[in-house]
Parts: sequence; structure tokens; C-alpha cells
Amino acid sequence: MTRLDDLDTPVLVIDRSRMDANILAMAERMRTAGIALRPHFKPSKMIEVARRQRDAGAVGFTCATLAEVDALLDAGFDDLFWAHAPATPDKRRRVVDANRRGRVIVGLDSTELVALLAADADAAGVTVPVRVEVDTGLRRTGVTGDQAVGIARAVAALPGVHLDGVYTHEGQLASMRGERDELRDAGRAASSALVSAAETIRIAGIDVPTVSVGSTPGWDSAPFVDGVTEARPGTYVFFDGNQWRLGSATIDQCALHLHTTVISTVRPQQAAIDAGIKALSSDGSNRDNSFGIVVDGAGAPVAEIDFTRAYEEHGMLDGPAADTMRVGERLRILPNHACGVVNMWSRIAIVDDTEVVDLWTPVARH
Ligand SMILES: Cc1ncc(COP(=O)(O)O)c(C=O)c1O
Repeated sequence: MTRLDDLDTPVLVIDRSRMDANILAMAERMRTAGIALRPHFKPSKMIEVARRQRDAGAVGFTCATLAEVDALLDAGFDDLFWAHAPATPDKRRRVVDANRRGRVIVGLDSTELVALLAADADAAGVTVPVRVEVDTGLRRTGVTGDQAVGIARAVAALPGVHLDGVYTHEGQLASMRGERDELRDAGRAASSALVSAAETIRIAGIDVPTVSVGSTPGWDSAPFVDGVTEARPGTYVFFDGNQWRLGSATIDQCALHLHTTVISTVRPQQAAIDAGIKALSSDGSNRDNSFGIVVDGAGAPVAEIDFTRAYEEHGMLDGPAADTMRVGERLRILPNHACGVVNMWSRIAIVDDTEVVDLWTPVARH
């Protein structure tokens, strides 16, 4: 039996029972509301996690990259949504091939891509399911509801593609700073805009089976608007420091921590640790300029210490609490953003209380 404290640092650790509780709670909440749950795979990138989500009731998965699509298809998952854009010939070829192995829905937001994808799919004798992306406030990709009608018409008019639905990623909620109630209102507003877009397409005579929202900050608001059929949160499997600050989770639900060791305490009120941006990524905090939150053994934030500087393999902790830290002492960091951190690691320790029960490998990293 390997104990967690026997693993050298830095090491990324998943608390298995917290993760399982998060997976079950989300599945139960969506099942009760009659909403299909299609979690985003990019926060975990681990087949073992996807299996647990599927066993809990996930209808399929959302992917950010075609490498994630391929990894899930290889592992036997055959109902996927690639929520990106088939903007290169190679990507369109891979999407068409993927649809021979399973049902791989493709997101897009332009008639140009509809035409290119339809031509490739039709030439290959494949029909690719398509979702039109509607922007509901993030201003990243996605069109207005009115523009979505034009794209839906283009999909309906061409062989090789068919309209599966509309979707949005209400990621603007992640940068909100107000009360949780304001965030929930914004989540519902995003969904209402998406539902209206679906209605406008239906009025044009085109069937819109799926209306899909997706984010962890919006998990308790956006899915519960009449007309929404699917939710795609991803980060909820682990939650993280940013989700805790947004009120999406309690600190006890956070299942992913980096374990690190103090390597130097030469200066007053300063300690260096063996974890920098190559362990934690440089993904920022949604509230301050910290690289992560120092937490105690129970996972509660430690007062009077800030993690405000990081080099590649050094992290710098500043504040009065650093004076009590000793070289060789182990600390835990709650990362700001789970997705970025997981993507840095080739092996992650799975822990049941203090015992290491497995080592899992994220797949489909760049
Ligand atoms: C298209 C899409 N859907 C769903 C999600 C999941 O959101 P979250 O990471 O907040 O769980 C993301 C995250 O970036 C996304 O881009």
C-alpha cells in the first residue's frame, strides 16, 4: 500500500470520494430535471473519469479537440459532441471518419463551414450531425439568434449534414464578481436567449431537437430554463479555486489538489515551493493575481499566505504564515483552474483518504 505522503512532490492528486460525489450529484440533479447530461471531457481528459460519468448517467461527452474525440472513440464512447469548428480540411476529414465510428456532432457558426463540411461528408457517403453555436454573452464564437436561422437553413438545404440543434457556452459567468444570485440570473438569461434562437429556427420550419447549454458556473441555473434539453458542465468533476470563489461549489467539494514541498525559507515572510507554472499552469485566479490557494490538511484555505509569484518549477508564497513554514514541509495547493492543471500532467494520483489507490493518465494532450 502506498500512502499519499510517500509520493514525492510535486504531485497532482484526486480525492476519489469527492470526485465520485461530484459526478453522482450532477447526474442526479440533471436526471431529476429531465435534462440530458453531456459533460465536457477536457477538464479530466481521463478515460477512467469518463467511465464513472457514463455509469452515473451521462448520455455522451463534449470535446474540445479531435484528439479528445479519437481518445473517447477508441475507448468505446460513441456519442460525442465536438464543440469547436471544422475549419481545416484535415479536421473535416477526421470528423467525417469519426462519424463512421460513432455519432460525432459538430459545432459551427458559419455557412462557409456548413458548405465545406457538407461537401466532404456527402462525398464520403456520411451524414454529420451539426449544432449551430449561439453567442449568449461570451463573445468568443457563436452567432446571434437571427444569424443562427440562416445557418440552420444552410444545414437543412444540404446533403451530408443534418441539424441536431443549437448550443451555447455561457462562459461569461466565469468572470462575474457579484453575488451568486446575480450569476444565476445571468445563467438563466443566457439560456433564454438560446431557447429563443431555437424557437426562431423552428418558426422557419426546421426541426431543432437539441438545445444545449454548458458551464460549471451555470450548472445550477442555465439548464433549468424551459426548452433546454442538455447540459454540458465539465469542471464540476473536480471543481477548483475559481469555481469555489464563484460559489459553484464548497471548498469540501474540491477534489483536485497539488501536493508540494517547501524548498527554501531564506527570506522573512517568504517560502519557496517545488511547484511552479509547469505544475499548476499559469491559469489565473478570477479574483486576484494568485497562482493557487494554499490549503491545510482538511482543504481549508490557510490565512496570511499568498501564492503570487511562480517560475517554471518554483512557486513563491508570501505573507506572515510563511514564517512558520519549514524546509521539507509538505503543503497542498488548490489550483485556480482544474482544466489547465490536469493538462500539464502525465500521471495523476488517485487517493482514497490517505492511501494511493491508482495512477491515471490524461489522454489527448497537445
Ligand atoms: C463549449 C463548451 N461547453 C462546455 C464547457 C464546460 O464548461 P466548464 O469548464 O465551466 O465546466 C466549456 C468550457 O470551456 C466549453 O467551451
